[in-house]
Amino acid sequence: MCRGLLGCRCRCRLLLLLPFLIAIVVFEFFSLCSSSYADVDPPLLINRGDGKDRDQQYHGYSSKFSSMLTTRLEKMAPSPVASSEIFNVDDYGAMGDGEDDSEAFKEAWKEACSSTNAIFLVPNDRTYHLKPITFSGPCNSPFAFKIEGTIKASPHISDYEKDRRHWIIFENLTEFTVEGKGIINGNGRKWWLNSCKVNKTLPCKEAPTAVTFYQCTNLRVEGLRFRNAQKMHLSFQKCSNVKALNLWIYAPGNSPNTDGIHVTATQIILIQNCLIMTGDDCISIVSGSKNVRAKGITCGPGHGISIGSLGAGKSEAEVSDVVVDTAKFTGTSNGVRIKTWQGGKGYAQNIIFQNIVMDNVTNPIIIDQNYCDQKEPCTQQAEAVQVSNVMYQNIRGTSGSEVAVKFDCSKSFPCLEILLQDIDLVHRDKTDDKSTQAEASCKNARLKNRGRVSPQCPGRR
Ligand SMILES: *[C@@H]1O[C@H](CO)[C@@H](O)[C@H](O)[C@H]1NC(C)=O
Ligand SMILES: *[C@@H]1O[C@H](CO)[C@@H](O)[C@H](O)[C@H]1NC(C)=O
Repeated sequence: MCRGLLGCRCRCRLLLLLPFLIAIVVFEFFSLCSSSYADVDPPLLINRGDGKDRDQQYHGYSSKFSSMLTTRLEKMAPSPVASSEIFNVDDYGAMGDGEDDSEAFKEAWKEACSSTNAIFLVPNDRTYHLKPITFSGPCNSPFAFKIEGTIKASPHISDYEKDRRHWIIFENLTEFTVEGKGIINGNGRKWWLNSCKVNKTLPCKEAPTAVTFYQCTNLRVEGLRFRNAQKMHLSFQKCSNVKALNLWIYAPGNSPNTDGIHVTATQIILIQNCLIMTGDDCISIVSGSKNVRAKGITCGPGHGISIGSLGAGKSEAEVSDVVVDTAKFTGTSNGVRIKTWQGGKGYAQNIIFQNIVMDNVTNPIIIDQNYCDQKEPCTQQAEAVQVSNVMYQNIRGTSGSEVAVKFDCSKSFPCLEILLQDIDLVHRDKTDDKSTQAEASCKNARLKNRGRVSPQCPGRR
């Protein structure tokens, strides 16, 4: 039955669109198989199911935002054309023999950067060792950095004396591409053993992010594997127009702070078809980030996808227009989380989490707007980071804890416009592997349910 003209037309349009949606899913699946790594299972793509246009009536911004994102991303970094000049690090004295190769990389960079249509090449088969290194622009663009072999970090903590927070930095680059089938290995074991999270008797000190992109525009990072970062694997900071595609990020589940992809103060970024298995957040999105789209993400082990933490030390945080679409979480501690500190300011708004499968995730859906610790006393504060307009749609699977949906929002700044649509999460008990009804805990959240929603907040059944 059509209720009103609009409902009828929407449904008809949806029927017409259905073959296209299926075609897109099938196409993406196959392009994924052919372009990703032979030894990695492709990220799971979940069929969108039916009736998924309804969100646009409630959240008008979503379609607008998505189309804006696609059109802008289309204009991004072209690959260098055939007349490229290749700058092979071997020609600059890199040996890949276990000794440090930093100087050869610096020389090759210097020449490649000032050339036109350059390809910086790290060739196949060998492992090149690098101390902390910064590849600075501006360079002539377009410019490609091809990694076919392995780049491995110096394991000597003394090499990082000048700056303990970074290993490889790419900064100030436009129309820049980093691609290849190679591996970037942070060699992080020593850092993990020296982490205060692992050895509680040790003081907490900084550890390097493996690869940082700082102030880059029209950037594409594609096909690479990242493993065993000292701390975070990949960070995009103050960048815009970014594509991070077909990446494989791996570190042990108990390695401390090894976030997969960290997005900070970055606008218009697409993270697509990535397999992320680490000891911390698969993707973390923090202040100043806007128009962030993560699609086709396979996550776990790890801490899930997190917006936040935001507003630490009473700071102001702004995150908006985030879409996480098509993801699978396996054995992670969180699924999709928004986390803000007590006493922070600003907002996290216009956020969509959709088409997600949770497999034994401890806290599948969580908003924690009251985060605090000894440093920030846990009292009800006058300020909070406002969380609003968050949609959860088509999220299914199993929760490792009884509370599959948890909204812990602030009394003075409740979470506004939270929409749950087609949610089906059950509690799976680890000991007997039986599924039981999951629970929802909802404090100070203004919410709406659409379709079938289970579990529901008490009093809303
Ligand atoms: C980036 O490049 C501009 C020139 O285009 C320069 O003025 C600026 O200092 C550079 N920034 C960094 C961080 O290198
Ligand atoms: C923790 O660090 C202390 C001080 O360096 C060291 O003596 C101890 O062996 C470490 N413990 C473990 C379990 O590595």
